[in-house]
Amino acid sequence: MLSEKKISLSVKRDDQLHPLINGNKWRKLKYNLIAMQAQQKTELVTFGGAFSNHIHACAAAGKQFNLKTHGIIRGPELDQQNPTLKFAKQCAMQLHPVTRLEYRERHNPDYLAQLQTRFPNAYILPEGGTNKAALLGCKELAQSLPNADYVICPTGSGGTLAGLIEGCDNTTQVLGVAVLKQADYLVDEIKSLSAIAMQQQNWQLLTQFHGGGYGKFSPELWQFCQMMQTQHQLPLEPIYSGKMMYALWQLIAQGYFPEGSRIIAIHTGGLQGLNGLRYRQLIG
Ligand SMILES: Cc1ncc(COP(=O)(O)O)c(C=O)c1O
Repeated sequence: MLSEKKISLSVKRDDQLHPLINGNKWRKLKYNLIAMQAQQKTELVTFGGAFSNHIHACAAAGKQFNLKTHGIIRGPELDQQNPTLKFAKQCAMQLHPVTRLEYRERHNPDYLAQLQTRFPNAYILPEGGTNKAALLGCKELAQSLPNADYVICPTGSGGTLAGLIEGCDNTTQVLGVAVLKQADYLVDEIKSLSAIAMQQQNWQLLTQFHGGGYGKFSPELWQFCQMMQTQHQLPLEPIYSGKMMYALWQLIAQGYFPEGSRIIAIHTGGLQGLNGLRYRQLIG
């Protein structure tokens, strides 16, 4: 299809950056860890769901860089057999399950102040690792890319997309594929994270490819992921990277991109999530 449509597609394999701390997780962690060191904090506190790629990467980073890590886990209980949490524990992350009600407070300044009192030596990193420091690492990724007409990535909180907008030339169109339902609110979040996103028009959040919502995927999407593995040796998972590639495939088929377009798709990692999907028997 690519040659028929005269499209050049490259995939930036950020999933291969490191065996455990890779993809956008490393890009977002890098400048946060530097800030943490500058602030002489010795512990990292962060938040995530039980199968979170971010929890997995932070636990691995804690082990790698000898930092004490705490995961505030959306509970109410911990499933000891969950592969992501098992791995986090093996990395010596302390897991703190909280009720869904408490978890909802994770952005509340009063709640964060209480956490800071409870963990005085801690650097508190938001869920998904998205904050202004995270953008710097994603900007660096964008600046390392060859020239392209389009750069595309999956979008959850918008941090990765905001960082890519910061680092891409303004002649490049930056596209984010929202992996959750009703994601239009993210446009304002992205603008508040990035002044450049606020000023420039060369980006778009595509909100029609959520496939039913966060963590939801059709049998067709999973078949597509498997086809990309067998025919193109590209490993994908259906929550982020697969959802983005499936959307990209549909856009190419619909003639969204002019002939001759050079597209770079960012593989943001997250392949550890396949273990969680197998564990829940959501894939074979
Ligand atoms: C593998 C993977 N890709 C993409 C995203 C979405 O990135 P962002 O939250 O920066 O939009 C996430 C979640 O952070 C993720 O784990």
